[in-house]
Amino acid sequence: MFKKSFKYYKSRKPPPNLTQVLDFLKSEDLLCDNKIKKVPLRMTNLDPFFGLKPLDTWEVYEIVAMPGLLFVKNPFTNLGQRYWTVRCLRDYTKRPNKSNLDPFNKPEDTKNWWDICQNGNKLLLDKMRWVTLGYHHNWDTKVYTENNRGQFPTDLKHMTEFLAKVLGFEQFSAQAAIVNFYHLNSTLSGHTDHSERNLNAPLFSLSFGQKAIFLIGGQQLEDQAIPLFLHSGDILVMSKDSRLNYHGVPKILQGDVSEWSSPESESVPNEYDDVVKVCKDNSAWKPFGDYLKHSRINVNVRQVLFDGEIQLSEEINVF
Ligand code: OGA
Ligand code: MN
Repeated sequence: MFKKSFKYYKSRKPPPNLTQVLDFLKSEDLLCDNKIKKVPLRMTNLDPFFGLKPLDTWEVYEIVAMPGLLFVKNPFTNLGQRYWTVRCLRDYTKRPNKSNLDPFNKPEDTKNWWDICQNGNKLLLDKMRWVTLGYHHNWDTKVYTENNRGQFPTDLKHMTEFLAKVLGFEQFSAQAAIVNFYHLNSTLSGHTDHSERNLNAPLFSLSFGQKAIFLIGGQQLEDQAIPLFLHSGDILVMSKDSRLNYHGVPKILQGDVSEWSSPESESVPNEYDDVVKVCKDNSAWKPFGDYLKHSRINVNVRQVLFDGEIQLSEEINVF
């Protein structure tokens, strides 16, 4: 019963009882109760993307009642969490990527939302709700088209494709992403993600900042729904039988701060210096850390095309 559960967990008065929410910080209990099972990692000869913990420390689980729904317990280093936070807030929000604030800015206006906010316009900070990358999600028609496609960021592509390989999705190609920005009173109502031409490819969902209650049901609204906590750094993968399931975010809860506390020293390729120096300098990092104290960032990465396809088919040419 997706709608009923959603309403229950969204409620403020009275607040929901959270004892049924799967919490992977207590993964030993969930394993004992047969709610989750361990998933082995695949070996890959790809170099790991920086900002990820060593593979032999990763914990990956499948939710027993939701075959194909995989959970990776925060595999990011603190530096990795800081890196993706800076990229999402400072860089991915720039044109030509699309955002909910585009209608309020002239295309020739090159000023960046993050910089405007830092230069005093704090009211604007909570107005950014989503950004789309690569094939732009069309919120009205829900249809991806070739002429509504931007460059997909290469760092996000490399990191998610590395993740996909390690989880056994050898062919995954990152082609579209939605970055969602949530505040403490935000929700994302129940929906299915079915706009992609290829509905067999998995969907990767990364979380940074405050924790969320994520609710996932079955392919029918009547099916039983399962609530779980997503903490900063956690990754959820909707694949196989769970790829088309109803899901949503009924609540954001405040509490997490430590996950991005102090960045470790880690070797990072030079090409990322520009971002990494912000992550390592505590005063440059401060506004990003402050944002995360009352917000959650979700990066939702999808493959649109079938394996081997390079674009959506063109209109039929009339000679
Ligand atoms: C989405 C989505 C979930 C989340 O963007 O389609 O389901 O955890 N996001 O924010
Ligand atoms: Mn979704």
